[in-house]
Amino acid sequence: MTQMHQVLPTVQEFVHRNHMHYIHGQWVPSVSGQMMDDENPSTREVLTRVARGREEDVHQAVQAARKAFQHQDWQQLNPNAKGVLLWRLADLMDQHLVELAQLDSLDMGMPLRQAQYGTVPMAIDHMRYMAGWATKIEGSTIPVSAGKFFNYTMRQPVGVVGAIIPWNFPLLMAVWKLGPALASGCTIVLKPAEQSPLSVLRLAELITEAKFPPGVINIVTGYGPEAGAALVAHPDVNKVAFTGSTEVGKSIMHKAAERMARVSLELGGKSPNIICADANLKRAISGSMLGIFMNQGEVCSAGSRVYVAKEIYNQALEQMSEYARRLKVGQPLDPRTQMGPVVSAEQYQRVLDYIESARQEGASVVAGGDQMPEAGPGFYIQPTIFSNVQDNMTIAREEIFGPVVAVMPFDDIEEVVVRANTSPYGLAAGVWTENVRTAHYLAHRLDAGTVWVNAYHVYDAAAPWGGFKESGFGREMGHYALELYTEVKDVWINLQ
Ligand code: NAI
Ligand code: MG
Repeated sequence: MTQMHQVLPTVQEFVHRNHMHYIHGQWVPSVSGQMMDDENPSTREVLTRVARGREEDVHQAVQAARKAFQHQDWQQLNPNAKGVLLWRLADLMDQHLVELAQLDSLDMGMPLRQAQYGTVPMAIDHMRYMAGWATKIEGSTIPVSAGKFFNYTMRQPVGVVGAIIPWNFPLLMAVWKLGPALASGCTIVLKPAEQSPLSVLRLAELITEAKFPPGVINIVTGYGPEAGAALVAHPDVNKVAFTGSTEVGKSIMHKAAERMARVSLELGGKSPNIICADANLKRAISGSMLGIFMNQGEVCSAGSRVYVAKEIYNQALEQMSEYARRLKVGQPLDPRTQMGPVVSAEQYQRVLDYIESARQEGASVVAGGDQMPEAGPGFYIQPTIFSNVQDNMTIAREEIFGPVVAVMPFDDIEEVVVRANTSPYGLAAGVWTENVRTAHYLAHRLDAGTVWVNAYHVYDAAAPWGGFKESGFGREMGHYALELYTEVKDVWINLQ
C-alpha cells in the first residue's frame, strides 16, 4: 500500500527522518519529548512522526525570533541583501520543485500534477516577487500646513510575526506569510498545520542552505490548541498572521486584542459563481467545475454555490454532471489524477455529513454523493453535485471544504446579486457572461475580495488576496501584503 517507491529517493529519506522544530537555525526536539503522527490521506497510514510543540517550544522560537529581529545580522542587512536572500531561497525551491510537490501530495492528498505545475511554482513566483519588494518599501513626504516642517513617513517592520497556516496548500500558505514578512524586515515563527508539516520542514533545510541568519525564520510543529494557541498568546509576538477556519480566526482576534497584537485573517468562504444566460457555456462549465473540484474542494475560495440562469439551467446541470463523472479521482501521485482524497478522517466525516444533511433537507444528488472506496483506501469522496437546493439549506450556507457543489437556478441579475451576497462570507466570486455591462455590474455589486470574470481560481503574486465580511481582513499578495508587516512612522523636522 505504501507509495514511497513512487517518490524521489531524497523524499523517501526526508519523510523517514526524525522531524523536529526549527529554532535559531537548529533542529530541536520538543521540550516534552513528545511526537505526533502525520498521516498520508490516500492510504490512511502514518507517514512519519513530527515533534509536538507546546508553549515552552513556542517560547524558545519566539525568543530566537526576537533576538534575530534585534540582531545586527538581520538589522544591518541592507534591503538589497535581504532581497538576494529571498531570491536565493526561491532558486533553491526551484531546484527542489519536484521534491516539494511530492511532499505536499503525499502529506495532504493534493494531486501531484496540481502541486508540480500549479501551487509549488506559484510559491516560487511569490518568493521572487517579494524578493523584489525588499528594495521598494518607501515612505512619502507630506506637505503639512501646521508650520514650517519637513514631514516624511517611513515603513518599519512590525517585529516578530507569528504565522499559523492551514493544510490545504501547505507550502504556498507558508510562502504567502514568509515572503512579505521577510521583505519587510520582520522575523517569524511559523506553525504549519498538524496534517501537513512536511514541505515546510523541507523548506527549513533550504532556508539554512540559503544562509538566512539564524532565528530569522523559525518553525514549530504541533496542534492548533497547543502550539497555535501559545503562539497567539505569546506577549512577544507583535503580529499574528492566520489562515484557516472562521471559527479559529475569531478566537485569535479575541486573544490578540488583549495585548493589541496586529492581526490579519484569511478565513473561510462560500463563494458564489454566477453563470449568465449569455455565457460561453463550454468555458463556464469547465471553469466552474475547476472552481469547485480543484484540490478536492479544499480551497477557501471554492465556488461552492453555482447560480445558473434558468433558461440554461437544465443543460448546464447535465454538462456539469457529465464533467463530474469523467473527473479522474485517485492516488495523488499518479500523474493522471485530477482529484485526490480529502485530508483527514475528520474532514472526510465532515464532508460526508454535509452530503447527508443535503439529502435530508430535500436536495437531489445529480452526480456523486458518496464515499469512493474504488479510488483507493484513502479518504476519497465522489465529486458531488446537488440540485433542488434552497438558499436556506445547510449546504447552501456553510463552508463544506470538500468536493460538493450546490447548483441553483436564478431568474434575473438583481435577484442573484441579493442571493449571492446573502452570506456571512465574502472571499471570492465568479461571473460568466459575454456581456461587458453585466460583467462590470456584477463585479461592482458582489461582496467579495476577488471577482473573476470568465475564469475561476486564477492567482498572481502581484494581485491582492483577501476577504470581505467573515472571510477575514487584510490583503495578502501584491504590495498590499507589505502593509500587514510594517508600521507607518511619521517624522516631523522643524525647519525654523
Ligand atoms: P483550523 O482553522 O482549525 O486550522 C488551521 C490552522 O490553525 C492549523 O494550523 C491549526 O493547527 C491552527 N489552529 C487550530 N486551532 C487553533 C487555536 N485555537 N489557536 C491557534 N491556532 C489554531 O481548520 P481545520 O480544523 O483544519 O479545518 C476546519 C474547517 O476550517 C475546514 O473544514 C474549512 O471549512 C475551514 N478551513 C479553511 C481554510 C481556509 O483556507 N480558509 C483552511 C483550512 C480550513
Ligand atoms: Mg499528512
